[in-house]
Amino acid sequence: MCGIIGFTGRSQAKDILVEGLTRMEYRGYDSAGVALEVAGADGEARLDVIRRVGKVAGLASELEGYKDESTCGIGHTRWATHGRPSTANAHPHTSCDGRIAVVHNGIVENFAELREELQDRGHEFKSDTDTEVFAHLIEEAYGCEGDLMAAVREAVSQVAGAYGLAAVCADEPGTIAVARKDSPIIIGMGEMGAYVASDVIALIDATRDVVVLADDQFAKLTPEGIECTDSEGRAIQPEVTHVDWDLDMAEKGGYPDFMLKEIHEQPRVVRDTLVGRMSANGELDIDELGLSLQELNDIDRVYVIACGTSYHAGLVAKNVIEGWARIPCEVEAASEFRYRDPIITPSTLVVAVSQSGETADTLAAIRDARIKGAKVFGITNVVGSPVARESDGVIYTKANKEIAVASTKSFIGQIVSLMLLALLLAQVKYRLSTKTARMLFRELGDTAEQIQRILDESSDSIHEAAEAVAPAHSALFVGRGMGAAIAYEGALKLKEVSYLHAEAYAAGEMKHGPIALIEPGFPVIAVATKSPTYDKVVSNLMECRARGAVVVTVATEGDEEIKKIADHVIYIPQVRDCFSPITASVPLQLLAREAALLRGCDVDQPRNLAKSVTVE
Ligand code: M6R
Repeated sequence: MCGIIGFTGRSQAKDILVEGLTRMEYRGYDSAGVALEVAGADGEARLDVIRRVGKVAGLASELEGYKDESTCGIGHTRWATHGRPSTANAHPHTSCDGRIAVVHNGIVENFAELREELQDRGHEFKSDTDTEVFAHLIEEAYGCEGDLMAAVREAVSQVAGAYGLAAVCADEPGTIAVARKDSPIIIGMGEMGAYVASDVIALIDATRDVVVLADDQFAKLTPEGIECTDSEGRAIQPEVTHVDWDLDMAEKGGYPDFMLKEIHEQPRVVRDTLVGRMSANGELDIDELGLSLQELNDIDRVYVIACGTSYHAGLVAKNVIEGWARIPCEVEAASEFRYRDPIITPSTLVVAVSQSGETADTLAAIRDARIKGAKVFGITNVVGSPVARESDGVIYTKANKEIAVASTKSFIGQIVSLMLLALLLAQVKYRLSTKTARMLFRELGDTAEQIQRILDESSDSIHEAAEAVAPAHSALFVGRGMGAAIAYEGALKLKEVSYLHAEAYAAGEMKHGPIALIEPGFPVIAVATKSPTYDKVVSNLMECRARGAVVVTVATEGDEEIKKIADHVIYIPQVRDCFSPITASVPLQLLAREAALLRGCDVDQPRNLAKSVTVE
């Protein structure tokens, strides 16, 4: 996730910016940069922009040799979304004349149109980023307004999307203009001057009394103080919040651990992964499609290859690729696929799913599939990662950096991305009408709100269920159809973070073996949401209950009947069955975390596990 920092005051800006960027580096980075206001030899102020690919330390060592005593500047650490990691794509971005610089978090949905219009009016773009449009829009508006704050207000009024933005202008030394919509911006006044950041962690050494800007609010920072305004430029009196977090808490956004923070980020992940993907006429926009519509239309077989949680996202994808696009789809562990001799032809599409984009088995399977002539499509969270580079086309999951070893938000981003791919295939093959595709796309987006409701309303029932599960030695997860895919992921989460043995089974398979495990007190955790196989799942649970199992169900709101067979019910909102994996996964993630905490485990860094598995 990108980080913004800015300072104007009576102290050297560069050290404050570097310190702030270093503090935010834990959120993920691929490059970093600063823009500093300095007085030129002729006495005229100018902006010096220094950017570096890689860690903030690289930028810091470059800045060590930088002698100008600038007291105003902005900085940024980037986690790429538009455009590969490169110096040109690193922030700050500048106007044509180099007198305006901006740093931005968020997404400009209409950047392609804006960029074209600006180019038609003579602006030259130096990067592939969506952010750069801000620099040029502000430049144009500044030409008319002669006022940075008014120019920023005018620029953002033309933008659709999300932004946390800070801008400086060489013609207004000492001023930082700030704007916010759907991306965090925090400002504060310290002893040495005024600060802006996207994360409280970058400010807490300077001040603990901060203002969290609300959407559509603006702020003008000068060494003397901060003025907040609304979108009309009217002064507003923002609420000041006192932050008493320590550094560790601040890094986690106030959550006790990264796993919980990342689970709570999932509504945003759904929204960000979908933003700007469907045009008004129902056409889908994929990051780097890399395949012609004819090539997509020719596809007659899909393999989804992945490992761990990403493999489980593939199990969900199989249902929609076959259900919506009617293309046969197989899901395989990449570690198996690479050593088999799968049937691959030029009309085979291999979809490689990897959060990190660098899992060794997945990469080896991609290479093997390409040699055999398959087209390869990557679903990854990391722009420019090996999976992205070695695939013909890519969808980025927009989960931002995931720190907890157990994947949560990236899983949700993967499912949403795979559903986009399934919709695309269905449209290209005319298996779904534009009307239906639009409706499914809208309902997919609605899951953001539904996840939020689960996060807001289910903690008590999840805690009670976790208390029942935590003392056990083993647990069984069951479900059918989409529910089975989620059961597999639920079991993986539980064993990963709580070290409790857990196994998942398609519920209908219980009587063919696993039911022998059931004895009084044995936990059976079932995905029993309303679906075409709901009644079957209920009968399977009755069989478990009859043998003394403690039954925990994830069920659909309003289902009172389920209480007759379940000891613990976690309700989730009703959704179309194909979208239930997105919502039903959330309580199982929380259940795993709660059980792990009750068992005294470190949920962020489970033993024996690494975040990316780059060896075979
Ligand atoms: O980065 P990848 O998605 O390729 O990683 C695959 C697995 O190693 C990963 O999903 C792992 O299973 C997670 N720790 C699960 O939470």
